[in-house]
Amino acid sequence: MASTSPGARPHRLVALSGGPVAAAPGAVWLVGAGPGDPDLLTVKALKALAGADVVVHDGLVSDEILALAPRRARRISVAKRRSRHSYAQEEICRMLVAFAREGLNVVRLKGGDPFIFGRGGEELEACREAGVTCHVVPGVTAALAAGASAGAPLTHRGAAQAVTFVTGHAKAGEAPGLDWPALARANQTVVIYMGVATAASIACRLMSAGRAPSTPALIVENASLPIERRIASTLGSLAEAAAGLEGPALLMVGEAMALAQPGHGRGAQDAPAPAMKEIG
Ligand SMILES: C[S@@+](CC[C@H](N)C(=O)[O-])C[C@H]1O[C@@H](n2cnc3c(N)ncnc32)[C@H](O)[C@@H]1O
Repeated sequence: MASTSPGARPHRLVALSGGPVAAAPGAVWLVGAGPGDPDLLTVKALKALAGADVVVHDGLVSDEILALAPRRARRISVAKRRSRHSYAQEEICRMLVAFAREGLNVVRLKGGDPFIFGRGGEELEACREAGVTCHVVPGVTAALAAGASAGAPLTHRGAAQAVTFVTGHAKAGEAPGLDWPALARANQTVVIYMGVATAASIACRLMSAGRAPSTPALIVENASLPIERRIASTLGSLAEAAAGLEGPALLMVGEAMALAQPGHGRGAQDAPAPAMKEIG
């Protein structure tokens, strides 16, 4: 069994190629890298990175975070690319299993949290089917960073009794198949991941299902990064507000978004954490 302390592991013989001749079994660590700001990594994520032999990472993971892995660790990008070959999910799963079988500590580093629209579940299942030990290290999902940075709570007494994370991913011009009447009820926050391209259809569906066009909305692009942008809007003008965005962005709709502070750069709520010595 692999250790559950990510940094600590026994020395082992490792064959980088030529098949599974490991002296001890490796393991896969599905690690949430958070929304981008390295200060939002968990301590456990940091330890997992420090113990990595291989880091298989998404495109949304910054160089600053990748630099936290040992220099000797092999880094493999499986980012989705528009023009060049990108890895199919099955190839990624096979790669993780193969490296672990070589006795390596494999860190699968994903933006945000691995289990929030991150396909972490498929990778976990692939490891289970192959008999490979897989640990999951949660990360700060983009919605939490966006709300914190904008000063807009996702739940708020009297204004948001629930929060729902949904995917906006659908074919161009279409809206995803979601329970629109449920999402259109007042006093809740709806956070839409991957919804920039479908913002017009989503806004239309919510309003057709009864959500008021005047409902406050917030768009946060590149949450937690120095280039973060927060656009305050309403549901009625959400599509217009989302037009032309290029970075990863969230659409957030709900009464509590009235508290959001628009602007550029990390919000006031996202000041650098105090140094450790000051805490102690
Ligand atoms: C495939 S999903 C991955 C979500 C990730 N697992 C998480 O928990 O945040 C990618 C989408 O997440 C959102 N996203 C990820 N990072 C973000 C960031 N720093 N700022 C705003 N939205 C972000 C965007 O909607 C983007 O299209």
